[in-house]
Amino acid sequence: MHAVAIVAAAGSGSRLGADRPKALVPLAGRPLVCWAVDGLLAGGVAEVVVTVPAAERDAFAAVLPAAVRIVDGGSTRTASVRAGLAAAGPDADVVLVHDAARPLTPPDVVARVIAALAAGAPAVVPVLPVVDTTVLVDDDGAVVDAVPRAPLRRVQTPQGFARDVLERAYAALPDGAELTDDAAVVRAAGVRVETVRGDERAAKVTVPHDLTLAELAVTLDGTVTR
Ligand code: CTP
Ligand code: MG
Repeated sequence: MHAVAIVAAAGSGSRLGADRPKALVPLAGRPLVCWAVDGLLAGGVAEVVVTVPAAERDAFAAVLPAAVRIVDGGSTRTASVRAGLAAAGPDADVVLVHDAARPLTPPDVVARVIAALAAGAPAVVPVLPVVDTTVLVDDDGAVVDAVPRAPLRRVQTPQGFARDVLERAYAALPDGAELTDDAAVVRAAGVRVETVRGDERAAKVTVPHDLTLAELAVTLDGTVTR
């Protein structure tokens, strides 16, 4: 099984509000995208494609390993992944799509996704339970109802796919359609999406507090390695 990872790193990081694209923001001295690529390679990925803001190619090339392919992303995450998928080499039979914004994703999560694909899953996502009471509110913010929590899951990345399944699903997706993740793209094509256990350390860096937590995890959590 030859796994290629598409790393979505073409966003600006407007909610983080840094002086550079989010994927280039340092965590313990190394850009988020470098942490993300390391985790994928350690988890069993053979090949990596990183989609970047077109104006920042040189900055990414300066920090990424030479074997990583760098391609221009698009104006939405969906467009960026589509561009990355088109640049995957001919050998790959499975594709993992990952957010650069999840720098500390443990290699074990990557390995669980690859193992599920090897066992025959056409699509697989890492998930975690919802731990907070979850409610529906009306337009004024008043609670209307509590949502039964047991069947709810939070979805992380990397999300894994048989290559032909993902390529067909993206080909069937109308140009300009924007979905929040790749599992939604294959589900729109009628594909069953399986789940494996995610990990809190795979949390997404979205706002400055998330970066603070990631810095603390690197410093204080002995299971996070540099
Ligand atoms: N992404 C991408 N191409 C885009 C938009 C997002 O490749 N046009 C990537 C981001 O680089 C990130 C991942 O998708 O790694 C998840 O998106 P998000 O956390 O929303 O990152 P940004 O879009 O960069 O952040 P923001 O929404 O705050 O601007
Ligand atoms: Mg975004």
